[in-house]
Amino acid sequence: MKAIDIIRDEHRALAAVLRAMEFTVAGVRAGRFAPDFRLFAMLVDYIVRVPEESHHPKEDEVLFPLVRAACPEVEPILDELEAQHQAGEAHIQELGMALIHWQAVGDPGFARFAAVVGRYLSFEWAHIELEESRLLPLLEARLAPAARAAVDAAFAANADPWRGRDGEFDALFSAIVAATPAPMGLGGPAGRG
Ligand SMILES: [Fe+2]
Repeated sequence: MKAIDIIRDEHRALAAVLRAMEFTVAGVRAGRFAPDFRLFAMLVDYIVRVPEESHHPKEDEVLFPLVRAACPEVEPILDELEAQHQAGEAHIQELGMALIHWQAVGDPGFARFAAVVGRYLSFEWAHIELEESRLLPLLEARLAPAARAAVDAAFAANADPWRGRDGEFDALFSAIVAATPAPMGLGGPAGRG
């Protein structure tokens, strides 16, 4: 089912960025890298904008309503996922504010940023896990061929918003890979690409 492949691909790209965030915060905490605020700004920008502007709308507005109608047994999972999408907004605001605070005050602001990142990562990993381990297998097993075709057609009609306008999300992803310190990314050991 093409729509499910697209959702899984999007999760993989987001997971790579979440791991880059985890790795870079751990490196700063351990004193292995100097803080690269441009990299942290790109990580936060990706984590905030790609799910909010592309991935969640595709799920909330296209996938979930079609699936709700076609496969009522997934309703409790969809309710939980939609509640998580709502709750994610507060996490995301906190993430942006904690980064600004760290940049404003310097080293004393790092602990707060690292704590917010830790909470956000636990929340987002659990969210992706719920979709991957409970929702998607159920859809693969239970959706009737007509419903699968309807979801795939809706995704195809939705073009490819994942890439953003003019491929901007792809470009942001590549810039993150280039700036993230090796061995996770291609950047230099100081984390300044
Ligand atoms: Fe998702």
